[in-house]
Amino acid sequence: MNTKQVCKDIVWVGADDRRLALFENVYPLPNGVSYNSYLILDTKTVLMDAADASVADVFFENIEGALNGRKLDYVVVQHMEPDHSATLAMLLKKHSETVVVCNAKTETMIHQFFGSDVTISPQIVKEGDVLQTGNHALQFMMAPMVHWPEVMMTYDQTSKILFSADAFGSFGTLDGAIFADEVNFEEQYLDEARRYYANIVGKYGMPVQTVLKKAAGLDIQMICPLHGLVWRKDLGFLLDKYQHWSTYQPEEKAVVVAYASMYGNTGHVAEKIAEKLDAKGWPVRVYDLSKTGRDFVLGEVFRASHVVLAAATHDGGLFEPMEYLLREMIAHGVQGRKVALVENGSWAPMAAKQMQTLLESMKDMQVVQPVISVKSALAPAQEAEVDSLVENLIAE
Ligand code: FEO
Repeated sequence: MNTKQVCKDIVWVGADDRRLALFENVYPLPNGVSYNSYLILDTKTVLMDAADASVADVFFENIEGALNGRKLDYVVVQHMEPDHSATLAMLLKKHSETVVVCNAKTETMIHQFFGSDVTISPQIVKEGDVLQTGNHALQFMMAPMVHWPEVMMTYDQTSKILFSADAFGSFGTLDGAIFADEVNFEEQYLDEARRYYANIVGKYGMPVQTVLKKAAGLDIQMICPLHGLVWRKDLGFLLDKYQHWSTYQPEEKAVVVAYASMYGNTGHVAEKIAEKLDAKGWPVRVYDLSKTGRDFVLGEVFRASHVVLAAATHDGGLFEPMEYLLREMIAHGVQGRKVALVENGSWAPMAAKQMQTLLESMKDMQVVQPVISVKSALAPAQEAEVDSLVENLIAE
């Protein structure tokens, strides 16, 4: 058993997965991921969400250990994505006494996912309903499209904990600590929290804003998400990040330089621009899109105010690593960034035109001039153009 005490009568019974390579079979997990599940040991016992099938053994060992022979009265299903619900059918087989608490959309999904594998008579809840479990009073708050339609959150009026479903979560395992204030969050987790937000929730800024407004009316002392660390201090820090991310505002005045280069010449121009920006005191991070996944760079674009995109032309079009990044930016609602463009092409450069077309489908993207068009390698006569591009990019 590997449980963690969240407060007097609430226990984390989740599990870490350090073996999974790709979250949702697409996002790399260099630091793993945790599937958080919480057990409330009140007069009634309540499990807040199940877990992924990959951690079923540890998850059930934790539940049974924490229950210590008690029956499980309720399981609250806040979210039906299988990383939290795949073990639900197994749970209900082990605990036939357990009542499922969920909303009507969730009930439909339970039947969609499990068919005849589960027979349930759920207690259907809606916005504002309260489940009394003894000392605790669980108030349900719908959070549609953060990031699935059935998602709901649960506010415990007694402990003032917000069980926030996927919101406020992060990639990365819980390495002993469970609370964000026990680690150097900014150093160890912030980039992964942002990458998680950008890729999983990024598209749904408006629904996140709706939830933030609802949450502002609650006295929240602790946030318990379905992935990553629990927050009991500095909630303002996390809420401020969510405010920025969900309104697509950059967190920092900084530049992300991303390039898609076949033989290094396009990358060389990108590096030169980075050096010039650094010399002017700007914080810069440079990414080779053939090496660094577009999901990582997308997180960086959520962080930074300015973006430099440099791409080769390939088969008469945009070199694919850059096209993939731009399509991710479109899909996840990126907007309001200042952008500098560099293209390369040995006989018919086309990359800039295609980057511009893709940028036009985003909101408020300001492309600065000049767009630098390189033929094979940056010509000495183009140095002045690079200087001019840098000046215009950072001009207020
Ligand atoms: Fe962590 Fe949307 O599931």
